[in-house]
Parts: sequence; C-alpha cells; structure tokens
Amino acid sequence: MSTMHNIRVREVIKETEDCVSVSFDIPNDLQSSFDYLPGQYLTLETEINGEKVRRSYSLCSAPHEHEWKVAIKKVPQGKFSTYANEVLKAGDELKVMAPMGNFKLQCHAENENHYVSFAAGSGITPMLSMIKEVMESEPKSEFTLFYGNKNTDSVIFREEIEGIKNRYLNRLSVHYVLSKERLMSEIFYGRIDEEKCRTYAKAFFNPTEVHSYFLCGPSQMIFTVRDTLKDLGVDEHNINFELFSTDDMPTGEKTVAEIAEVDRGKMSAVKVTVDGISFDFDLAYDGGNVLDAALGYGADLPFACKGGVCCTCKAKLTKGEVVMDVNYTLEPDEIEAGYILTCQAHPRTESIEVDFDV
Ligand code: FES
Repeated sequence: MSTMHNIRVREVIKETEDCVSVSFDIPNDLQSSFDYLPGQYLTLETEINGEKVRRSYSLCSAPHEHEWKVAIKKVPQGKFSTYANEVLKAGDELKVMAPMGNFKLQCHAENENHYVSFAAGSGITPMLSMIKEVMESEPKSEFTLFYGNKNTDSVIFREEIEGIKNRYLNRLSVHYVLSKERLMSEIFYGRIDEEKCRTYAKAFFNPTEVHSYFLCGPSQMIFTVRDTLKDLGVDEHNINFELFSTDDMPTGEKTVAEIAEVDRGKMSAVKVTVDGISFDFDLAYDGGNVLDAALGYGADLPFACKGGVCCTCKAKLTKGEVVMDVNYTLEPDEIEAGYILTCQAHPRTESIEVDFDV
C-alpha cells in the first residue's frame, strides 16, 4: 500500500513564467521505496485554506541522476499548481507518495531502439526523464521529440533540453512546434495535429520501425496523434500515452459504465481491505464508485486524479464483479490478474471484495 510521507522540499525553481520545478530531499531510509522508472509520477498533498489538496506530477528527473524532481505548471483555478507557483518554497514539507504509474520506460544497455515522443506544454516532464535515461543508459538507442508550445519563452526546460541535444547530437532530435511564433520552417508552426503528424512521419521517422511512441499533453493532441499513428500502420500496443486529466476529453472518449434496467437500484455488499483493516458497506450498482464510497466510510485509500488516468487507486478485486467507467492506465495483463481502478469501479454482483494490500 502506498502511504504518504512527510518530505522536505529541497528547491523550487521558476522554469518559465507559469511553471516551477520542485525537488525533494528523500530521506535515506525511504530512498529504495522511492526508486522509479522514467515516466512515473509523484503524488503530492498539502492543506490549502483548510482543504486537503492532492495532485500527481510526473518526475522530470531521471533515475540515474539520483534526484526526485517534478514540474508544476500553473493552470487557471488550479489550487495546487497556484500554491506551488506562488507560495511553496525550499524547506517546506509536503506529503508525498512513492513514485507510481504505468507510463514508463524500462531501459536496457543493449537496446538499439528508436523512440518517438509527442509532448505539449508540461507534458514534457515525463519525456525529459525518459530522454535523459535513454541517452545515459542505452548508448545505441535514438530519441526523437516533437514538443508543442505557444512560443519560445513558454518552452519548459529549454536550456536543459538543448544541453542534452548538444551532448547527444547523433541520437537525440528535438523539434519545437510553436503555435504563436513562426520559426524557420512552416511545418513547425501551429499545433500538433493530424496533418503535422503525417508530415513528421514522412520526414523524420518510419512509423512502423519505431520501437515505442510516448505521448503526453492535452487529450485532444494525444488522441489525434494516436489515431494518426494507428492509421499509418503503427500497432496500438507500441503507443503509450499519459493524460493530464480527462476534463478536456473529446466526445466519444468519455464513457460511463452502462447499467442494465434490471440492475438499477440493486445493492452490493462491499468489503474493502487496506493496511490489514477491512471496511464493510453497501453500495448501489448505479451509485458512486468504490473509492469514493470507501473514503466516505473512513478508509485511508490512495488516489490522485479520480479520472481513470493515474492508476494510484489500483486495487485487486478478489471477489465478485465490477464495471469501470474508463481505464486509461491499467495494462491488459493487470486487468487479467484482477486489478481494477477503484475510482472508476461500480459493483455488478451482490457482493464484492477489493484488496489494496496485494
Ligand atoms: S485515482 Fe487516478 S486512476 Fe483512480
């Protein structure tokens, strides 16, 4: 089970007008449980105006750097991101959960892969981690990054990216795509859309020869690039993506678990086990999700996005059946093994048992 630890902020650096990076001092006795793979994220929690606010942010540091650093871009009305950009400082303490997430890249020195990534805005954070790790740990692999922003000034980590590019000129290609500033070539002006994706595929990579694709940014960009790559013959299994949230999901991607007319109003006896303690309660088939219901009964459960995106609320269904509204993160083998996203799960049998400890 993932618990929250009180962790001291080592440094807060203003990266752009509206983005800070935040690094942490992880105590020695916690460092092994804070091991991570590039692409994974930290879940942070603090109290803002008397309210507990919890968010997850991808690590932009790479494992070989032996550092834990995230980037937090201020979003309109974003409670945590505004706090991080305007109030948070070195020496403060935040509650931090150990790194998690299925959006990740396992490097091996003998790999000779070509990775291609499409990122926009703060979607660069997990990519930066992956790029640094691949450059360091896979000397025969290449990485191509297409990175969308408004203009040069809003490019997060520009200096760091340029530094890595200059160091690994033969293996790292970086293409900035700017929507409000014209660069030398017209193909890099505008937003990353279907036409651009097709143009880049012709000019910079052979779609079916790329080992893996990594997409991170707003859902519109992610689904457009994913669908275009599939249309270009790329196997869906080679396309990995990380959504910021499901708020801006295009119509057709958002779903709500269906319920048969006969199941309406039926109740399920639910048992949720966490840290060896069990919580028993009843939940309607067409009621809320398992996570919210269990939190309401006092269970101290891990969660972050509550949108089927981050995987923090993953638990094993050990009895009964559930349906999930959406799943953007569990892998087929995890589903096969009985894991569910409790923030998306609704019971479909008269009793269910959910275990967070396995
Ligand atoms: S809390 Fe993020 S997937 Fe459930």
